[in-house]
Amino acid sequence: MKSTKHLSLVFYGTLMLFAGFTPYSAMGQATGVLKKEATEEQLYRPNFHYTPKKGWMNDPNGMFYSNGKYHLFYQYYPNDNVWGPMHWGHAVSKDMIKWEELPMALYPDNQKYIFSGSAVVDTKNTSGLGNGKEAPIIAIYTMHDADKEKQNVIDVEQQDIAYSLDEGITWKKFEGNPVIKNSGIRDFRDPKMSWDETHQQWIMILAAQDRAQFYKSTNLKNWEYLSDFGKNIGAHGGVWECPDFFQIKVQGTNESKWVLIQNLNPGGANGGSGVQYFVGDFDGKTFTLDPQFAKRVTEENAVWLDYGKDNYAGVTWNNIPNADGRRLFIGWMSNWAYAEKVPTTPWRSATTIPRELQLIKKANDYSLISNPVKEINKYISKTMTKKSAKGKGSLTLVEGGKVDLTQAIIEFNLKNLRQDNYIFMLSNKAGESLSFGINNSSDSYLFVDRSKSGRIDFSDKFASVISKANLKGIQKEAVFKIILDKTSIEIFYNNGEKVMTEIFFPTQPFTKISVSSNQGIEIYNLVINDLSIK
Ligand code: FRU
Repeated sequence: MKSTKHLSLVFYGTLMLFAGFTPYSAMGQATGVLKKEATEEQLYRPNFHYTPKKGWMNDPNGMFYSNGKYHLFYQYYPNDNVWGPMHWGHAVSKDMIKWEELPMALYPDNQKYIFSGSAVVDTKNTSGLGNGKEAPIIAIYTMHDADKEKQNVIDVEQQDIAYSLDEGITWKKFEGNPVIKNSGIRDFRDPKMSWDETHQQWIMILAAQDRAQFYKSTNLKNWEYLSDFGKNIGAHGGVWECPDFFQIKVQGTNESKWVLIQNLNPGGANGGSGVQYFVGDFDGKTFTLDPQFAKRVTEENAVWLDYGKDNYAGVTWNNIPNADGRRLFIGWMSNWAYAEKVPTTPWRSATTIPRELQLIKKANDYSLISNPVKEINKYISKTMTKKSAKGKGSLTLVEGGKVDLTQAIIEFNLKNLRQDNYIFMLSNKAGESLSFGINNSSDSYLFVDRSKSGRIDFSDKFASVISKANLKGIQKEAVFKIILDKTSIEIFYNNGEKVMTEIFFPTQPFTKISVSSNQGIEIYNLVINDLSIK
């Protein structure tokens, strides 16, 4: 619905904005006839976040773009919905929203698991692994030797490559593996390689326990160690895993900086798995933190790409055409603290919404902002808008099935914020709720609270802590963009300056959004988009 009225509504008490219109669809209202699996399928299988049909998934791997398609590989165990011997699963999409699951890409040999890694399109056949017709796709991954792991030795992990001559559908492991031997580090994994246009070289970043290592190559087969970064810098509450490294333009300028994304587990912003980033310069050999950014890392301990509990192991796509020019990111929407226990069968885990990363500079300080890719907008089937709404106490924004809150994008601005607690709540008829909002004191923060969100008792790590993202002092205004998809909320605050991604499992869908504040709230430009993605 496009609103034709531009009402400024001032209500004190309970205000209903979009309540009681069309009947809610039968989605999720499973009867006793449905099997447990069917109910979970209806209730918990996301509409537009990628999930494998069955089996276990964790990290996104090897993403590249080629011939109009975004390829996504991922850590995959097809035989159970808990972690097991790792394969690379494969999916493709024309728009990163609608995915098609493809046959398995890489299989483990015996006890040699295929851990996380990356892939490039070797357009000039620098590897010599091409056939003179197709550009070979080269994947690099960590070969994790489960036999050696049992023997408790150090050199469990090494870097191997495989190549594909049919756009990533079938793969051959390289006979000359390993391309990087283990040099005496137990956690030595997750190589992310890419083409460094500035220094005309292939580069790779690798997680080595408590630091990241840089390598370079001319042919993707011989790798030369360059330097390392990160020992005693940033968050170190757990092992460093799944790094990424790329050059990016500062928005609206011709200045370029280098960004290092570094996942770690545990020790994330709100416990368990988390993703931090660093901004600096790279001379083709060594990464040096920008001095202002270094100050911020010292003050804040770490700068996080996402403050929610459920965005891990995220990295960016390779080979995005220059004409597009975006830096595109996707993460695993879960957390090792409870990922294997979440109540979904016969699959477990989804990816985050793909995000465009941009580097901005304010007061001499760089920040990496994230926003959902614009491709999501083409699935908007219905839009409702309200120019403004003001109220005190509890205000109902949507109720009664007017909007399908299991696939929606909600945007609004808050103005004239006071020193108050602004609590938004998604709720259902079973009395379950998910809350988020701003605690706007001098120690202001954003929060997500899933302690009443339905099924939470599968792990005491799931809902025991309210996730927080610190803001700086009392906020005067705020801009929210929220993506909902059955079991996930992704909050993009102030155009992606702060992001929180969390999952939840209500026993029936949320059908209402309300907000409460003690001193009153002013909402402007409320836009609620229903999505239709099936
Ligand atoms: C991160 C991670 C990686 C590893 C993979 C194994 O979630 O632990 O470091 O390569 O998962 O599945």
